[in-house]
Amino acid sequence: MKKLVIAIDGYSSCGKSTTAKAVAAELHYAYLDTGAMYRGVTLFLLENDIAFDDLPRIEHALREDIHLSFRHSRRAGRNELYLNEVSREDDIRQMRISNSVSEVSVIAQVRHAMVAQQQRLGRRRGVVMDGRDIGTTVFPDAEVKIFMTADVNIRARRRQDELAAKNEHVPLPDIIENLRKRDHIDSTRAESPLRRAPDAVLLDTTHITIGEQVDFVLDRVSAAIFAAYAR
Ligand code: DC
Repeated sequence: MKKLVIAIDGYSSCGKSTTAKAVAAELHYAYLDTGAMYRGVTLFLLENDIAFDDLPRIEHALREDIHLSFRHSRRAGRNELYLNEVSREDDIRQMRISNSVSEVSVIAQVRHAMVAQQQRLGRRRGVVMDGRDIGTTVFPDAEVKIFMTADVNIRARRRQDELAAKNEHVPLPDIIENLRKRDHIDSTRAESPLRRAPDAVLLDTTHITIGEQVDFVLDRVSAAIFAAYAR
């Protein structure tokens, strides 16, 4: 059966990764969390005291020092981001990374390196990718494109619960501010900004369950498979 690329873009904390993971599991596709890659670069720059405007050092680090990969942890039951052969999955989810990652993801050199790696990882297709620019820049020819959105208060509460489950207790107004700031930076940057591709289907998750989100995407996948065979 023809293998598709499924692009799930949208605002921060709309449930993109939860939906993408479930869709990938259902279809036996690979899942690629592109936000984790930008978070990995951010972690590296912070840990190595590389300023976000020090472009020569950033370019050098991208070329020589930053090696990102994903591996499945059976023990944790999840895919984990590896930075230089060490799992940094828990570290990249912390608020200190969320607070800086949008600034790092505006850097053109960072974007070019990440997009190239994402295109390599998805070249065999059969992949679900979630991010901000998958349907517009990474795989503009993706057969299924979803653009997710949700009310910011709902998103913040979901994010707060996720952090609390990891013992990080963050006041709701701080999370709302972080989401608004990231949405703003992500949508207004010059290089591949967060945009709904003209052929992306809008999915508002404010009032629906995760199961309904997953069914919505799977319905689009069935339609795309049918369309591919009808052609
Ligand atoms: O999906 P996430 O919240 O983990 O992503 C973290 C940040 O990475 C997000 O604020 C913007 C950036 N990002 C991006 O610029 N392009 C992508 N394809 C994915 C994420």
